[in-house]
Amino acid sequence: MRVVSGIKPTGNLHLGNYLGAVKQWVAMQDEVQASGGETMFFIADLHGLTEWIAPAELRANTIEMTATLVAAGIDPARSILFNQTRVPAHSELSWLLNNVARVGWLNRMTQFKDKAGKNREGASVGLYDYPVLMAADVLLYNATHVPVGEDQKQHLELARDIATKFNTDYATELFTLPEPLVSRAAPRIMSLRDAGAKMSKSNPSEMSLIKLIDADDVIADKFRKAKTDPDVLPGNVEGLDGRAEAKNLVTIFAALADRTPADVLAEYEGKGFGAFKPALADLAVATLGPIRDEMTRLLDDAAAIDAILDRGAEKARDLAAPVLRQAQEAMGL
Ligand code: ADP
Ligand code: NA
Repeated sequence: MRVVSGIKPTGNLHLGNYLGAVKQWVAMQDEVQASGGETMFFIADLHGLTEWIAPAELRANTIEMTATLVAAGIDPARSILFNQTRVPAHSELSWLLNNVARVGWLNRMTQFKDKAGKNREGASVGLYDYPVLMAADVLLYNATHVPVGEDQKQHLELARDIATKFNTDYATELFTLPEPLVSRAAPRIMSLRDAGAKMSKSNPSEMSLIKLIDADDVIADKFRKAKTDPDVLPGNVEGLDGRAEAKNLVTIFAALADRTPADVLAEYEGKGFGAFKPALADLAVATLGPIRDEMTRLLDDAAAIDAILDRGAEKARDLAAPVLRQAQEAMGL
């Protein structure tokens, strides 16, 4: 079993990114390796180009994402961790696969339609071609499993279609067809000021989100001032229906503690937010504080991050080289 997963470089990471994405990857790393599998995680900086981003920001995001993953528990000694750009075979295989993928297949991709919106003519060719690069990302390593959320299922199907057509057209068994890796459902974290909106870096209110870089007292203050209601906590999850703010705080508590919301409610039933918020703040500081400190240490040591990505890329290049070479040979190059 080899699991390959790409992560877009985003900056200003917040609690929603941590509980909804980063923590899930760390759990996946540990579960896959416990059953004898291998894990590869790459920062998809080439995918980051498909929508315009300032060069300095893209560079900083790649570094921040690497520091966050390592601080949160992705272990570069146990997982292969790198960024796409350092492994040119991603771009090279992508070009080969461009000649296998059909325009009609890409025209059906709903993510392109959503992202391009009405301005299809003005979208970059890269945004349109994004799923072919994604196919190259996983086929290059003969990934057996690829973790996919709802929005990526169609892209994985496309990768399988490309692999099948390549194997057929060039009479080879080179590419492995990757299966989706179904992981436990990621929690969806809502804004601390308005639980109708998701916690997001694009929310202008500072108090609506916990940033991974926030100091302990800032984390505690944001939870203290989080919007709630005057009622006490119910004994079961159904009792949170219609209480979006309360539900969000219980969801956050449960996700941080690796417990179920039902289990958290069993402990706090009958208590008000005067008791629950300080407990949540303590838990958040205890969990996020060490990650922030390690992230900060790494971000102050550019050479350390560079060395991590370099070592990961070296291992990835070794795995990619023979597959790329065989693909070229199969095609007559
Ligand atoms: P943002 O919405 O802040 O711009 P991104 O779109 O860059 O965040 O998301 C990066 C990753 O973090 C994705 O895997 C996404 O599903 C996850 N994520 C973002 N916000 C949340 C949230 N509020 N709750 C759970 N997961 C989230
Ligand atoms: Na992804």
